[in-house]
This record gives sequence, structure tokens and C-alpha cells, in this order.
Amino acid sequence: MRAGSFPRVTWLLLVGLLSATVAFNVDTKNAVLHHMAGSYFGYSLDFYNEQKGMPILVVGAPEAETTNPNLAGIRRPGAVYACSVNRPTCREVHVDKQKGNLKKLNGSHLVPIEDKANQFFGATVKANDKHDKLLMCAPKYKYFYSKFEVIEPVGTCFYAENGFDKTEEFSSCKQER
Ligand SMILES: *[C@@H]1O[C@H](CO)[C@@H](O)[C@H](O)[C@H]1NC(C)=O
Repeated sequence: MRAGSFPRVTWLLLVGLLSATVAFNVDTKNAVLHHMAGSYFGYSLDFYNEQKGMPILVVGAPEAETTNPNLAGIRRPGAVYACSVNRPTCREVHVDKQKGNLKKLNGSHLVPIEDKANQFFGATVKANDKHDKLLMCAPKYKYFYSKFEVIEPVGTCFYAENGFDKTEEFSSCKQER
């Protein structure tokens, strides 16, 4: 092939691959392996400085069962794990500080107003450029409207900075009644 006749896309791809190689010094000889069966572990991931200068790998597993006591009894809500970058250890982080599934009064009966089962939490985990802020989302989180009979998959996200002790929930499609 004559020099200069590479399609532009090929060059862009090559440049992309080269810069990726330079930017990430991935050790393939001494790889650290993490896995969780049936959980979609690795569906999303990012690096996060949980403490200053202490990077961890945050891994989403949107089909996972959770150990979060706030979500006890809820089927496969999904989970996010904090994994060591140099040892094969992960721990689940309990991001959701609210007790699910929340119930509200419908007349004189308490009925659920939300459903966190199969909400796909961990489908998105994304840090900012400095890796000190993190967003984790559950795009299939459902909220009930009207007389509790309209079920909308409004989705929800949790924001964290400086670790996972304090998180803030964002669910802008959820309307309070
Ligand atoms: C809520 O109350 C209304 C009116 O009494 C009733 O028709 C409806 O079925 C109730 N919804 C649920 C989920 O219990």
C-alpha cells in the first residue's frame, strides 16, 4: 500500500491505540483477576481515588445480589465493588443509604412506591477527570405514580466523593407526589 493512502479512520484508530498504550501501563504478565459469577461483574468500571492518592478500581455488577442491609430481600438490585489494583480483592460498597423498597400510605394501607429489584445498579460507574468524584447509576430503578398503579423505570444515580460514606441520590425523573 502506498504511503499516505491509509484511510483516515485507520490512522485515527492507530493513533488512538498508541496513545492508549502510552496512557495505561497495564501489566499483562502479573494480571490481577476479579470475577463474580452471573452478576455481569465488569459491565462498567472506572478508577476512583477513594482516599487521596489511593486509587481503587470501581466495578459495576448490575445483575448481582447485594449485601447492602438497606436492600435486604430485594432480588438482584445490582452492586458496585471497590477492587484493589494490585491484589485480587474486592469489597462491595453500600452506596444506597435509603431503606428500599420505600412504602407510602394509599388511604390506610402502606404500599410500595418504588421497586429496586433488577434495577441494574452498577450499569454505569463513572469518575470525573481527577478521579475524586464518582457517579453510579441504576437505570432500571422503578417508581410508582398516581394510585401506585403507574410504574415508571425512571432510573436513579448516586454521587460520591471522598470514599463511599456519604452519597447523594439523583433521580430527576422521579416526581414527588
Ligand atoms: C390504592 O388505593 C386505591 C383507592 O382505594 C385503590 O383503587 C388501589 O388499588 C390502591 N393501590 C394499591 C397498589 O394498593
